[in-house]
Parts: sequence; C-alpha cells; structure tokens
Amino acid sequence: MKRNSDYYTKLAKSKGYPARSVFKLKEIQEKYRVIRVNDKILEIGSSPGSWSLYIFRELKLKGSIVAVDLVPSEVSADEYSRYTFIQGDIMDDTITKKIASYGSFNVVLSDAAPSTSGNRLIDSSRSYEIAKRVLEVGIKLLKGGGNIVVKTLQGGETGKLKSEMSRYFGFSKLFKPAASRSESTEIFLIGMNFKS
Ligand SMILES: C[S@@+](CC[C@H](N)C(=O)[O-])C[C@H]1O[C@@H](n2cnc3c(N)ncnc32)[C@H](O)[C@@H]1O
Repeated sequence: MKRNSDYYTKLAKSKGYPARSVFKLKEIQEKYRVIRVNDKILEIGSSPGSWSLYIFRELKLKGSIVAVDLVPSEVSADEYSRYTFIQGDIMDDTITKKIASYGSFNVVLSDAAPSTSGNRLIDSSRSYEIAKRVLEVGIKLLKGGGNIVVKTLQGGETGKLKSEMSRYFGFSKLFKPAASRSESTEIFLIGMNFKS
C-alpha cells in the first residue's frame, strides 16, 4: 500500500532508525529473502546506517557487514562487533581494493545515491555509473549462489543494467518498494543466485 512519505519518516524515527530507507530493504527482504542469518554482507552507500541496524536488530544477523560510504556511519562498531565501516568512494580503486581485502561476500547491497542536481538526465546517468560499478564489484566479490540489491534511478540505462545482471544471476528483477517516494524514479535491481 502506498503511504505518504511523512508516514515512513515518522515510523523510522519511532523505531530508532536514522533513515526511512530502512522500509525499502524490509520490503525487499520480505519479498525476496536476499539475506540469510549467517551471511557476510557488503553494503555500499550505507550511511547513516538504517539498513545495517535493521539487519542486526530485526534479521538477527550472526554473520558480518562491511559497510562503505562517503560520509560517516551512525552505527557503532562498539555495539555491533561484526560491523566494519570504510569511509570512501566506491568509484575509487583504492577503496575497492580495501573492500577486497575482506574476501568474498554472500550478499552485496547498495542504496548508494549521488546528490541530485534536479536534472533527471544528469541524475540518472550519475546513478547509472554508481550502479554499474556496484555490479562490477559484486561480480568480482560475490560467492557462488550470492545475492545483490542495487539501487538506481530509472533512465535509458536501466534496461542495460538489468540485462547485464541477468547474464550473471539465475534470477533478476526490477522492484519499486511501496516505501519509495512515488515522485522518485528510484528502483532496485535484485539479482539472486550468482553464477560464479
Ligand atoms: C540514501 S543514502 C543510504 C541510506 C542507507 N541505506 C541507510 O539505510 O541509512 C545514500 C548514501 O549513498 C552514499 N553514496 C553516494 N555516492 C557514493 C559513492 N560514490 N561511494 C560511496 N557512497 C556513496 C551517500 O553518501 C549516502 O550516504
């Protein structure tokens, strides 16, 4: 059911989550079961940290999360010992090398979004560049059978991303959560069962 954006913002705050985006991952998880309890997860564009908190608190993750963002995280590594945060740009090779030093992952999640300019063409092309990079990182670092979730802004290149994904994953799908603002062009690409 579609609700107004205030509804999700208030609900997130009342549940102790810094960002409303938590409900998007919750919907994805309830529909596709992309995360399992012992998984080792790479999360790109993770700050302030609602997705990580949801995974630890509600999915009771026993595995670990390596999280990456340009800006600091609000998740405390003291409280969650299986949480590692890397501050940096996913487009930067030194950051992807640092991520690779943690080995391979069962799941790659990306809610990374460029700051928007208001120009749909520019925004969707920036978002495409990030999503393409996330997909490349996923293809390099996912274990066989792994899953990926990648946010992008719909535009001319969304079909290209989707067909690239279907080459590498047994199942791929485009999904727009109800919690995503209706005026936003954001959409999530879900890839499951990575063919290593
Ligand atoms: C919508 S927020 C993510 C919210 C997060 N899922 C949560 O639940 O708290 C998008 C994030 O993507 C990050 N981001 C954008 N471009 C990035 C890049 N090139 N590398 C790493 N992070 C990036 C931004 O700094 C921002 O924190």
